[in-house]
Amino acid sequence: MEIPEELKKKWDEAVARYEEKRAALLPVLRLSQDHFGYISAEVEEAVAHYMGTTPVHIREVVTFYELFHTKPVGKNNIQFCHTLACNLNGCEPLIKQLKEKIGIKEGETSSDGKYSFSRAECLGACEMAPMMKINKDIYGPLDKDKLNEIIENL
Ligand code: FES
Repeated sequence: MEIPEELKKKWDEAVARYEEKRAALLPVLRLSQDHFGYISAEVEEAVAHYMGTTPVHIREVVTFYELFHTKPVGKNNIQFCHTLACNLNGCEPLIKQLKEKIGIKEGETSSDGKYSFSRAECLGACEMAPMMKINKDIYGPLDKDKLNEIIENL
């Protein structure tokens, strides 16, 4: 796949900030996702070629981190934490409520492209449990009414 010059330039700038090229892998992937919206197999290959590694290694990294998407996501990418603190503070009924409200199941994107929904492991904001992340913003502690209000304002 042909990587646009503007993205290649950003990759070069990211690499220049590190002593070793491989240390720039996460920033390079992040820039790629910002550009394309997700990391496709073609992008993985291009990044592997650029970084001097294998597509398998890139796939391992992309699938390890929840912040990377391997398929297109909706305009509002909702990740609901279901790990311990959020679980103990009642995330499950809220997840059920959310799914009913936006009309999609886990791992799906709505047909109008407005929402994607997935469960997430601890998002590092346990003090806000139960919480969710929508794109780069985090919301919590959530209750039934707050969740409704947030979704209605998207
Ligand atoms: S357990 Fe949900 S943010 Fe940590």
